[in-house]
Amino acid sequence: MKRILAFILGIMMVAAMAGCGQSVADTGNSAVSGAEQKAESETEQNTDSGSNESKTETEDGSKVLVAYFSLAGEQYNVGVIEEGNTSIVAKMIANKTGADLFEIEPVNEYPSSHSELLTVAQNEQRENARPEIKSTVENMDDYDTIYIGYPNWWGDMPMIVYNFLESYDFNGKTVIPFCTHGGSGLSRTESTIAEICKGATMLDGFAIAGETAQNNREKTDSEVTNWLEKIGQ
Ligand SMILES: Cc1cc2nc3c(=O)[nH]c(=O)nc-3n(C[C@H](O)[C@H](O)[C@H](O)COP(=O)(O)O)c2cc1C
Repeated sequence: MKRILAFILGIMMVAAMAGCGQSVADTGNSAVSGAEQKAESETEQNTDSGSNESKTETEDGSKVLVAYFSLAGEQYNVGVIEEGNTSIVAKMIANKTGADLFEIEPVNEYPSSHSELLTVAQNEQRENARPEIKSTVENMDDYDTIYIGYPNWWGDMPMIVYNFLESYDFNGKTVIPFCTHGGSGLSRTESTIAEICKGATMLDGFAIAGETAQNNREKTDSEVTNWLEKIGQ
């Protein structure tokens, strides 16, 4: 029942606030080091493919990865956006924490029409699908902390994010979820991730409206900063 309500709320909020990317961004699919990422964000470029071997250590010597799924393209009621909402947040987190970036990219592109995307995503959920991912994080063992970012799709994570999480062993690692949404927040995704990532330490997740991430970078930046402080990162 909760899930149905979340769906309905989702639809309402999508209609009201939108923020849904549709086509796959022309980004690379390997982890990009924190240093590269910082340089890129400074020049306002898209994520570019880097070496999966690059590992940026934080001050305490731990290695941090921000893995995210996000779709750029036409947004409902907004027009075409160059970068997905979750991608914006992912890069902010990577920038602030010195983390490497990894974009979860689908093998089969999602439709560019918003209504088609809604249907495809819903079908994937109904079928409990595991959409294929273009590339893997080869050096996952090296990372101590993994942020996982996604848009809220139908009150849940996109099924491709399930596939990503099920592809690695997070035992002993710290996993930190974040999402962008049209009003539903994280829904129940934090507990779902905890169930998948057995043995991981879960820190409190972060949720921000996609529209805010897209159109109010200052607010987004300060919310991300406050959250990172709160969770001690
Ligand atoms: C297929 C689909 C389903 C969605 N379902 C919900 C939902 O249930 N609840 C919600 O708050 N937002 C929902 N949204 C809105 C997205 O979560 C929001 O626009 C998000 O910021 C998109 O992130 P992105 O630009 O990184 O892809 C949905 C969007 C799409 C495309």
